[in-house]
Amino acid sequence: MRYVILYWSRYGNGERIVKELTKMLKSKGSKVAVLNAKETEPRNIPDADMYIFSAPAEKFTIPKDMRNMMKGLKGMEGKKYGMINTHGMKRNWLGKMEKLLSKKKMIKVAEIDFRMGDNTEKGEGLRDGWVSELKSFVTKIQ
Ligand SMILES: Cc1cc2nc3c(=O)[nH]c(=O)nc-3n(C[C@H](O)[C@H](O)[C@H](O)COP(=O)(O)O)c2cc1C
Repeated sequence: MRYVILYWSRYGNGERIVKELTKMLKSKGSKVAVLNAKETEPRNIPDADMYIFSAPAEKFTIPKDMRNMMKGLKGMEGKKYGMINTHGMKRNWLGKMEKLLSKKKMIKVAEIDFRMGDNTEKGEGLRDGWVSELKSFVTKIQ
């Protein structure tokens, strides 16, 4: 399988998830391209069998760079995707991400969210058990 992971992360927690996910997928023989939303040209995303979008909740939405990248996607109709959201408060923002991607007529395959714990600002906010949660996400996107 070929994956493209598109992500945005302020403190590195989401980036840590993306790195672990990349490792898991590559260990199963897949090809993985990782693109930071800040530096991505959304009209020209490489072809893949599955796209993964990863972003935090900020100010009751998804950060602007990530939203703009998702809004700018072209030619993604019928393509499969998975979503990852990190959040500090109880509520996750997967729904917002899905709303943006449904406008692109993409097909949702799986989603996962992680509520942050202590030391999020140091990039250490992921709670015990996050790796095994991510493993079950991987089984859904293969
Ligand atoms: C400016 C700012 C606004 C935030 N607003 C929210 C929010 O509205 N809801 C929420 O659940 N978490 C909020 N958070 C917490 C972030 O979701 C958390 O820092 C993030 O998931 C950590 O992931 P990252 O290290 O990949 O950026 C906010 C954080 C910052 C810095």
